[in-house]
Amino acid sequence: MASQRIPLVAGNWKMNFDHLEATYFVQQLAWKLRDIHFDYRHCEIALMPSFTSLRSVQVLVESDNLKVRYGAQAVSVTSQGAFTGDVSADMIAHLGCSYVIVGHSERRKYHPEDDANIVDQVRAVLAAGMQPILCVGESYEERRKGIELDFAVGQVHDVTRDLSDEEASRLIVAYEPVWAIGTGMVATPQSAQDAAKAIRDDLSATFGIHVGEAVRILYGGSVSSKNAEELIGEPDVDGFLIGGAALNVDELTRICQLTMNATV
Ligand code: PGA
Repeated sequence: MASQRIPLVAGNWKMNFDHLEATYFVQQLAWKLRDIHFDYRHCEIALMPSFTSLRSVQVLVESDNLKVRYGAQAVSVTSQGAFTGDVSADMIAHLGCSYVIVGHSERRKYHPEDDANIVDQVRAVLAAGMQPILCVGESYEERRKGIELDFAVGQVHDVTRDLSDEEASRLIVAYEPVWAIGTGMVATPQSAQDAAKAIRDDLSATFGIHVGEAVRILYGGSVSSKNAEELIGEPDVDGFLIGGAALNVDELTRICQLTMNATV
């Protein structure tokens, strides 16, 4: 992290926490960050609860004027109509969400989300005035073949190539090698940096250097307070998308602190 980009620490809660647990966690996190004099101007924090918790989190954040942001874990590609169980980007935006995770590997695996669908999700999120956190990353098989950089860059390229420069500049990319998610096996800082740099270079080549330099590229996959400092020390790693460690308020506070310290 060595740029004008403000780092982002985003917690992906997946299918954990009901709305009572979610609001309790947000309150605790806000208290703990206040106690360590956390400076939100130097590091953004966002939590991604389940849909069922978004309204409760919104009410808490707005009534207590908290600086924590929040977002959703998925979105429908359609805006309204007969799509049982789906939630539109406008519905999510109206709850005050800043971000939506798009194309997480668990969504790609368990739901029919292919590149075409992911492009439409990105467009829906941008049109509703939010920022998509586009997840990409290779499986163990691609890494074994040594094609991990081409694979991750290709995933970003395929989804973004038809966006306008302005749309592309509002993207956030999360490089999350699938083999590192929830396994305790974290990418080395060098390989996180190599992937982030390759993705940034491709964005610069497609949209111009101003877009490549503006887009925040997060690392995700077994991030913890033990490895966050080294990872955030890399120049093209602009923060984290965190699963397991974001379910523990002390651990998440520590990661936020380490990330903020890297910027000041
Ligand atoms: P993890 O999950 O931190 O538990 O590896 C990351 C993610 O799935 O975004």
